[in-house]
Amino acid sequence: MAGILDRFKEEIAEKTEIDLSKKIKVGIIGTGWIAEAHVNAYKKCPDVEIIAAADLIPGKAEAFCKANGLENIKFYPSHKELIDEAGVDAVSVCTYNATHAECTIYALDHGVSVLLEKPMCVTLDEAVEICRAEKRNNAVLSIGFQPRFDENMKMLKKICQSGELGKIYYIQTGGGRRRGIPTPYGTSFIEKETAGIGALGDIGCYSLDMVLNSIGYPKPLTVSGYKSAYFGKDPSYEHHDVFGVDDFAAGFIRLEGDIILDFRIAWAMNLDTPGDTIIMGTKGSVRVPSTECWNGSIGGPLVIYHEIAGNQVETIVEEKHNDTDCFDIKIRSFVDAVKNGGEAPVPCSQILYNQAIIDGISRSAELGREIAIEIPEI
Ligand SMILES: NC(=O)c1ccc[n+]([C@@H]2O[C@H](COP(=O)([O-])OP(=O)(O)OC[C@H]3O[C@@H](n4cnc5c(N)ncnc54)[C@H](O)[C@@H]3O)[C@@H](O)[C@H]2O)c1
Repeated sequence: MAGILDRFKEEIAEKTEIDLSKKIKVGIIGTGWIAEAHVNAYKKCPDVEIIAAADLIPGKAEAFCKANGLENIKFYPSHKELIDEAGVDAVSVCTYNATHAECTIYALDHGVSVLLEKPMCVTLDEAVEICRAEKRNNAVLSIGFQPRFDENMKMLKKICQSGELGKIYYIQTGGGRRRGIPTPYGTSFIEKETAGIGALGDIGCYSLDMVLNSIGYPKPLTVSGYKSAYFGKDPSYEHHDVFGVDDFAAGFIRLEGDIILDFRIAWAMNLDTPGDTIIMGTKGSVRVPSTECWNGSIGGPLVIYHEIAGNQVETIVEEKHNDTDCFDIKIRSFVDAVKNGGEAPVPCSQILYNQAIIDGISRSAELGREIAIEIPEI
């Protein structure tokens, strides 16, 4: 078995020196839950100065910065004033989903680079407008999928790209929690006006990115989608009166290259897991033991099922350890791209397809039939 595993040996990442002669000025837009993780990771970058913060809720940005030990910060009542007045090179857009598009487009159109939290936005139309803004401006846009930097996720991609699986034709992915509707600090994840989409976008985007990134992001063609909200709208649930999104969604998606993607995702269900992720190929298949899919790692070693000299065998790929926190790498790689004018670590051109599937599932579910996914020219 050493033979096949040798093909997946780690590449030693080159550690480059940080150029301290060039510093970037960063602003935080939206000072809620995830903003703290951004600040903590930026603090580890000696070439970054956080100089501004904005939040729609009066006093929230000030309290956030105080709590996080940030000093000499300029405060603004929304993304617009921050981008117009603060003199930032880059911003982290940490707002709820419904304002991702307007904050990102405004920043890019003012030449400010953006690290945009996942999901990219709510609708495909918004995703198209974000991609167009990225194209017409000279600024970096990266989407905040930290699991991309997880060593196990990188290994999964390596396996899919290695050719060992042959032609990939069927994928099952998704996941979820038995009970886990997120209301960390209020109800911004579950209200229609702020979240726009529920489990489908919140954690569904991760599972979709895991498999689509592994196989090279083929274009989605058609989708038959389903969504429901039985748990969120149940009168016994404390926030049922404001629950306005899905808590479960599923989709059957045709991808370019004759690949079928079978997807399901839940914030709540009467089940432990809706199944492992499996990627099936003509020469081999890989199983990714399920996780709750909110941190993007794996629930156990990857297993490759294949055939050697007429024997049906399994190759177990040892679980990898991450030396650096994936969130820190997400921030560091964005900072490097801004400083060096490099390519976005997680480009919007890929996540456009992720958003197209989310949007397609949602629209197909509302129409009650399969639909074609049409992505306009960017
Ligand atoms: N990558 C991850 O691991 C991860 C984890 C949690 C959340 N997220 C994502 O981060 C985003 C934010 O989540 P959260 O839990 O921090 O939400 P939150 O509701 O706690 O905070 C969002 C904040 O944005 C502010 N805001 C909204 N529009 C604004 C605007 N135009 N200008 C300035 N401020 C604005 C709101 O007032 C609010 O305080 C969501 O899209 C979520 O999916 C990512």
